[in-house]
Amino acid sequence: MNALSPALAKKRVLVCVGSGGVGKTTVSATLALRAAVDGRSSLVCTIDPARRLANSLGLHTLGNVEAEVPASALAPLGVSPKSRLHAMMLDMKQTWDDLVTRYAPPDKRERILANRFYQSLSSALAGSQEYIAMEKLWELRTQRDYELIVLDTPPTAHALDFLEAPNRVLDFLDNEAARKLLTPALAAGKLGLSLFSLGSSYMAKTLSKLTGAETLQELANFLLAIAPMNESFRDRARGVRELLEAEQTGFVLVTSPGRERLDEVVHFHRLLKQHRMEVVALVVNRVHPMPRPELWEEAKQLTPTRRAKVEETLRELEVLAIQDAAGLAALRAACPETPLIQVPRFDLDVHDIAALWRTGRFLLGDEQLPPPPPAPPVDAERLREPRLPD
Ligand SMILES: Nc1ncnc2c1ncn2[C@@H]1O[C@H](COP(=O)(O)OP(=O)(O)O)[C@@H](O)[C@H]1O
Ligand SMILES: [Mg+2]
Repeated sequence: MNALSPALAKKRVLVCVGSGGVGKTTVSATLALRAAVDGRSSLVCTIDPARRLANSLGLHTLGNVEAEVPASALAPLGVSPKSRLHAMMLDMKQTWDDLVTRYAPPDKRERILANRFYQSLSSALAGSQEYIAMEKLWELRTQRDYELIVLDTPPTAHALDFLEAPNRVLDFLDNEAARKLLTPALAAGKLGLSLFSLGSSYMAKTLSKLTGAETLQELANFLLAIAPMNESFRDRARGVRELLEAEQTGFVLVTSPGRERLDEVVHFHRLLKQHRMEVVALVVNRVHPMPRPELWEEAKQLTPTRRAKVEETLRELEVLAIQDAAGLAALRAACPETPLIQVPRFDLDVHDIAALWRTGRFLLGDEQLPPPPPAPPVDAERLREPRLPD
């Protein structure tokens, strides 16, 4: 039992956020697995999972379809799940296409789908991945009845992208000014001048990445064709926003213990709070545990050369453990009100169900890392300072 246990038992949506490579997909899959085993029907919506992990969840083809993780995949755990686990891989392009197919006016649908700007949307428009992940979450929450949905999120370079991208994308799609400006400007061949009047906005930045009047014409066509959908885009964005702020939703902020990530994660944490989103836990993943003392004893039994090698490795591991402990202490001091959960760095990647299960034991507090190494000795100078009277 730890801070994640009640969230796993009660929340309807858990969103795993953090920068790329820290373990978001791993943590997302672990949480959904654990919730299903403990009795809540769960879905993990993954983004770009490692192939082996995807296979072990029974996801063999990319697509937006949810698949039940077969009982045979869970059998090696030796536990009988009390509920069912589903998994899917978010396919961004397919989600956009579904959205257009569902909401575009019939006479515009084909034109949008065939539009060249639309086809490069995910690369041309910063934040469109974050936007579409939120769209999918909204669809799943409103149209399915999983007790828990765990959403993995795209690797986000900046925390702000994640929180503000949806709005920026909406503003882009619904940019009256740009629409009015582009079409006549293109016709008159005065685009450069008109772009200037957009200043340094997100719209102007995106446009400046596109070159060639033809591409811009495509963009203008796209904006015109998509305009009738904007009302429904906005409605759902409002819905998503409410869902993210709701009591039923929690965020799990994943990070690694390195000092180099500290500023970033503290910043992300602050932004989530500012946006009124509940951070249920800060998961510090891949923490190097202090090597067990027995290992030093065992090394003594080895031949001198082997012993020297093993001891060198143990010393290196100690240094890493001490560095991680310092990172953790700094994080704890910076975000004192949020529970901090440590998951050790395993020797192997977390690419199968058994490894997810093991990760879950740490995430949910069944197992804990040994206490951090003692603080470094007080330095000699300070010891020489005269003691102040009590
Ligand atoms: N605690 C851990 N110990 C060892 N390997 C891990 C651990 N957590 C994650 N990994 C591995 O690190 C890689 C990146 O993890 P992933 O969950 O895909 O990160 P993200 O989704 O944040 O990019 C994967 O290969 C995963 O199996
Ligand atoms: Mg990932």
